[in-house]
Amino acid sequence: MLEITELETGYGKKQVLFGLSLEIRAGEVIALIGPNGAGKSTVLKAVCGLISVWKGEIRFNGSPTQGASPAQNVARGITFAPQGSRVFADLTVMENLRIGGFQLPRKEAMERIAQVLPLFPVLKERLRQDAGRLSGGEQQMLALARALVSKPKLLLLDEPCLGLAPNLVGTVFKKISRLNEDLAVTILIVEQKVREVLKICDRVYSMKLGRIAFVGIPEDLKGDKAKLKELFL
Ligand SMILES: Nc1ncnc2c1ncn2[C@@H]1O[C@H](COP(=O)(O)OP(=O)(O)OP(=O)(O)O)[C@@H](O)[C@H]1O
Ligand SMILES: [Mg+2]
Repeated sequence: MLEITELETGYGKKQVLFGLSLEIRAGEVIALIGPNGAGKSTVLKAVCGLISVWKGEIRFNGSPTQGASPAQNVARGITFAPQGSRVFADLTVMENLRIGGFQLPRKEAMERIAQVLPLFPVLKERLRQDAGRLSGGEQQMLALARALVSKPKLLLLDEPCLGLAPNLVGTVFKKISRLNEDLAVTILIVEQKVREVLKICDRVYSMKLGRIAFVGIPEDLKGDKAKLKELFL
């Protein structure tokens, strides 16, 4: 579904990714881990078209994404939920969801919202409430639901549990896992909470200084503290 080949990019004159390759098959949940500043968010931004590709190639279902705007990529099925992505506090839960479907005809957006809502019972009961009155965990659920309303084929999640109380992290991860199964969404998830993300992903890529330092399955890392430490040094 997604094929990144020898990607080089960065900001201004500063190069951040140095020939990074990564592949995602339809239906997979892929975790992208690694230390702060390794370039994880930069990979997601390049995939969705927020920053340009300097060298190399990104292909989505066979065709290059380079040169397409983020909106065009959403229309093709790539949705990005950025790090610390927040909801619109002064808008209601329903209005927030409608924003997720801004590119769809009204009827289709409403149908999609009806399809997504059963996965989020906490939201279903509070559609008319201002999103700012939801708890942190509930707002995170809303951000996820909003991303799903756009009908992504590939969902790029950047630290969806950032700032959440530890007791909520498990709930959000379980939810993410269900999205993958129930809505057939392929997921690329950047996460610092390695132990949690290893429970829900099919494969894991670890980055260091703008390059892939490790590719494997969660079982390669689970319980291997020494290996994990090495990846994060
Ligand atoms: N908008 C920007 N302008 C200039 N440099 C940037 C910008 N965003 C990120 N960088 C730099 O690019 C490098 C990679 O950043 P990136 O955000 O991709 O890292 P990350 O792996 O997501 O880190 P974290 O785990 O802290 O979120 C860092 O050195 C960072 O300072
Ligand atoms: Mg980041």
